[in-house]
Amino acid sequence: MELYFKKPSKEAREAMCEAVNQIPSKNQLIKSAEKDICNLTHHKYSKILNSGNSAIFTVMSNFQGKIMVPDQGGWSGTIKIAEYLGLEIIYLPTDEGLINPNLLDDILIKKTPKALFLTSFAGYTAEQPLKEIYNVCDEEGVVLVEDASGALGDETSRLANGKHSHIILASTGSPKIVNVGNGGFISTDLEEVLETPLKFLQADHVTCAGISQEIKNAPSLLSKTISSCSYLKEKLEDVFHEDRRGVNVICKADNPKKLATELRAALKVRNGGMISKCPRYDRILEDAVALEIKNLDIRCLTRENLDRMIELVNDLNTA
Ligand SMILES: Cc1ncc(COP(=O)(O)O)c(C=O)c1O
Repeated sequence: MELYFKKPSKEAREAMCEAVNQIPSKNQLIKSAEKDICNLTHHKYSKILNSGNSAIFTVMSNFQGKIMVPDQGGWSGTIKIAEYLGLEIIYLPTDEGLINPNLLDDILIKKTPKALFLTSFAGYTAEQPLKEIYNVCDEEGVVLVEDASGALGDETSRLANGKHSHIILASTGSPKIVNVGNGGFISTDLEEVLETPLKFLQADHVTCAGISQEIKNAPSLLSKTISSCSYLKEKLEDVFHEDRRGVNVICKADNPKKLATELRAALKVRNGGMISKCPRYDRILEDAVALEIKNLDIRCLTRENLDRMIELVNDLNTA
């Protein structure tokens, strides 16, 4: 079985090479990519920055007081940035990363955060009920910030949709859904959020040219990754959130260290890897091993390769 780590598409690489020589039309390339982002997320305004963490930093700088994050399955960088900015962090109790919108109202009233930062997929493996969460946040005056790094181009419009998030941000670094190798962005209808992004955090026109190109591939890439994960979840024993859409698959494991080592040896990925060991805040805080399907070039997500992965994981996880 040959597995390849995802890289920017040939078209994106060509667009980026071409942009290197287009210094005079620099601003045009940036503006055009920002327009593509607004079309993708259905927000009015957007700004492209040099990384996902720069986008988080820029958004978070708008808040004073408390910010809320899920107690697991979010992005650990969000917590580090909140600590750096001296913001109080409140951990929202979840069901293995999943937020229960029915319990959210009371918690928001009691804890009074200014904003809730979450990722579209808890641990990249289970889609959050974004619309329901948004309705509660909107009602309570809490700004919902969706880190949609793993969910751009969702054809069902349930995730990365500006109608269900006050602010969307994403990394377009590697290996993400809009996979340019670096960069990130913010989109929103709240113009004031984008008033003062720091100049040195802004992206160059080459990254912007890559983003414009890769946005075109996002819907098909995301849908193939999700359908591959759904197939794996159906056939693997003991996975978390088996009925929810995701871009990776997290398997329960009695001995995660051993299983992760054996799987790394068996599932070799050219130019990268696809195994993460848990407990880990960014995935799940339980003994488990995550198969990072989102890291793989979608051309290796053949039925044959997926069946081989199932065979390997089921064999090694019971050994
Ligand atoms: C969900 C999520 N958000 C943000 C980031 C940070 O992005 P960047 O590496 O572009 O700063 C990552 C990085 O892996 C991520 O997984």
